[in-house]
Amino acid sequence: MTFLSKRSAVEPFRAMDVMSAAFALEREGRRIIHMEVGEPGAPTPRAVREAAEAVLARGRIGYTEALGMPALRARIAAHYGAAHGLDIAPERVVVTTGSSAGFNLAFLALFDVGDRVGVPTPGYPAYRNILKALGLEVVEIPTTAETRWTVTPLMLAEVQAVTPLKGLIVASPNNPNGTMVAPDDLKALVGACGGHGIRLIMDEIYHGLVYGFPTTSALACSDDVIVINSFSKYYCMTGWRIGWMVVPPSIVRAVECLAQNLSISVNALSQHAAIAAFEATEELEEVKAGYAANRDLLLRRLPAAGIDDLLPVDGAFYVYANVRRFTNDSIEFARRMLHEAGVAATPGLDFDTTRGAGYLRFSFAGKGEDMAEAMDRIAAWMK
Ligand SMILES: Cc1ncc(COP(=O)(O)O)c(C=O)c1O
Repeated sequence: MTFLSKRSAVEPFRAMDVMSAAFALEREGRRIIHMEVGEPGAPTPRAVREAAEAVLARGRIGYTEALGMPALRARIAAHYGAAHGLDIAPERVVVTTGSSAGFNLAFLALFDVGDRVGVPTPGYPAYRNILKALGLEVVEIPTTAETRWTVTPLMLAEVQAVTPLKGLIVASPNNPNGTMVAPDDLKALVGACGGHGIRLIMDEIYHGLVYGFPTTSALACSDDVIVINSFSKYYCMTGWRIGWMVVPPSIVRAVECLAQNLSISVNALSQHAAIAAFEATEELEEVKAGYAANRDLLLRRLPAAGIDDLLPVDGAFYVYANVRRFTNDSIEFARRMLHEAGVAATPGLDFDTTRGAGYLRFSFAGKGEDMAEAMDRIAAWMK
């Protein structure tokens, strides 16, 4: 007899498996350079830590409103004014336990069991795994170099003719490739979703980490989109588990009722601390300058080592590399790179269940000197 539900049969997150294998080698005394997980190597900004210390010193850390502390919701809304010139009502902002909880809330609020949701590939694996666990049908939409690795209105119309979608989730910059949807293309995509009655969820978690590419929030195109964001990446707060959504006014109450029941409220300490994150720009821009230098290094040194088919890295902190020339088994390729070169990278199968067998993702969120050493090791290993 099995106790497991069918919905629990989600795929592993291979980046985490690679990380466990890397930790095991480190316990044996090996020096491993970590390029497998997508998290900032830099500490949380000082202002955020100090804000948390002040709250801890006061001592009382209780529940908050399910939608988030009003002061934080107002601060996030103000950020859209400063960063994008947008006037967003604080009532539309929902504070979440990382963007991960935002996906759950958005999917539950928008879709019913059996609804179809489009997910571009390559893409972040949790979308498809959460959707499946919630009983939704995932429609993968493969992107290619032809459309600069983004979904276009034409592609959407083709999908719609065969498997009509209720929703679509798109990340810009994307994970694993850091590629962005250009402002005009975003406008066209938002318009196409509106025309087809598709609810668009934009994952803007890598906003702020963009290297010269023009950035627009989907909120500039329509009030009917759901935008998901987080303090994890630009703000270097992965472990604080705090993020947010901006939703249309018509769904706020449904999201509130879901949030009340699913988790009561988001971690209060993190909410207090997150308000200070918006004051840490100087420190965070320094961290970003480090990523920009790492990005240049990888874009120069990976091709010199023979790994020369790379997707456009407009933002985020990843290089997604086509290694089909060397392997059609990216899991084994990553395993050998870890054991023989001491560099941990993520097999593309996490992000694309078919073509990913010929791809690897390198995260360059680590220290500059580690990235340089990784490039030396990969160059020697590739020989
Ligand atoms: C595209 C994307 N969305 C969401 C997440 C989840 O982030 P968090 O739950 O820490 O906000 C990640 C994490 O790597 C990601 O790459």
